[in-house]
Amino acid sequence: MQARKALCENGAGVPESHPSPLPFLSAQRVEGPPGPEDSVRRPSPQEHTMTQNTAPAAEAANAPTRTAHHRRYLMCRPEHFTVSYTINPWMEPANPTDTAVAMRQWQDLHDTYRSLGHEIELIDPIEGLPDMVYTANGGFLIDGIAYGPKFRFAERAGEAAPFIDWFRAAGFDTREPVEVNEGEGDFLLVGEVILAGTGFRSTGDSHREIGEVFGREVVSLTLSDPRFYHLDTALAVLDPVEGIANGGPERANIAYLPSAFDERSQAVLAERYPDAIHVSDEDGAVFGLNSASDGRNVIISPRAKGFEKQLRDRGYNPILVDLSELLLGGGGIKCCTLELRGAGS
Ligand code: ARG
Repeated sequence: MQARKALCENGAGVPESHPSPLPFLSAQRVEGPPGPEDSVRRPSPQEHTMTQNTAPAAEAANAPTRTAHHRRYLMCRPEHFTVSYTINPWMEPANPTDTAVAMRQWQDLHDTYRSLGHEIELIDPIEGLPDMVYTANGGFLIDGIAYGPKFRFAERAGEAAPFIDWFRAAGFDTREPVEVNEGEGDFLLVGEVILAGTGFRSTGDSHREIGEVFGREVVSLTLSDPRFYHLDTALAVLDPVEGIANGGPERANIAYLPSAFDERSQAVLAERYPDAIHVSDEDGAVFGLNSASDGRNVIISPRAKGFEKQLRDRGYNPILVDLSELLLGGGGIKCCTLELRGAGS
């Protein structure tokens, strides 16, 4: 327990001995435009275009038919996005960020959701809170109840009140947390069950607290690789709706990177989700799992090639949206997306 504590509280949450994620990033430079300042390859214009794969691949011929479900998401324009501090291993203030690129990539994601028929709500960005674009950390909402965030690091503490105010103004039954938690970054609803991450950000006590707030089963999972410091960087929910009667599959399924979890959590996941997609470390390291699914369309990073194929083989429709600029802050597609589940949704 001592070791884990040190791991969480040494500032960046990274043990000195752990390899930095940068080797993965710099490996990408081989294919990208040269430039000493470029630790992450900028998207090519081609990658920038949203690719919609409508024709099912031959391998997917026997895959189940997937149904898209209407979603309501909260997003925040990255108007003030930059990397000015380090609270995860991806953030390096010395690397330049380009707010205009971040805005354009974010807009692609926003427009992709809209083109799929989803409803997008916006929260106003606040100067001096560059991480506010990662709305997944702003709360956790089920059945019209909004559980607010309490950020681990002082740098993000100022985001809590604006998110809580937004939920109240939008008519949610809003609960202020006692325990440290980073919202949907660490809590994911799979069917009736809440999967809850700990190890780097949200505390184990917050798992008890969400159990009390939502009256649902909470399954605690411990993250053990600092590159994957929030649950939504290591695990993706593929089916937001469960049950044939609701138009979903009988059992909601997930995709995850087993090595991002400690042994006990790996065993729990293997037992509960025997049909889960296991992604490669390579796909995990480009934040492939930090994705959003409506049950049919799964928005993923264009760099997660293996995951793209795995999804197609299962009958899902991967849609590629590049958020490389936002990866400089340690976030991706899911981080920029908070599910607003109203009463009865
Ligand atoms: N820079 C942000 C942080 O470290 C990134 C948050 C990513 N969010 C997420 N849901 N994984 O807090």
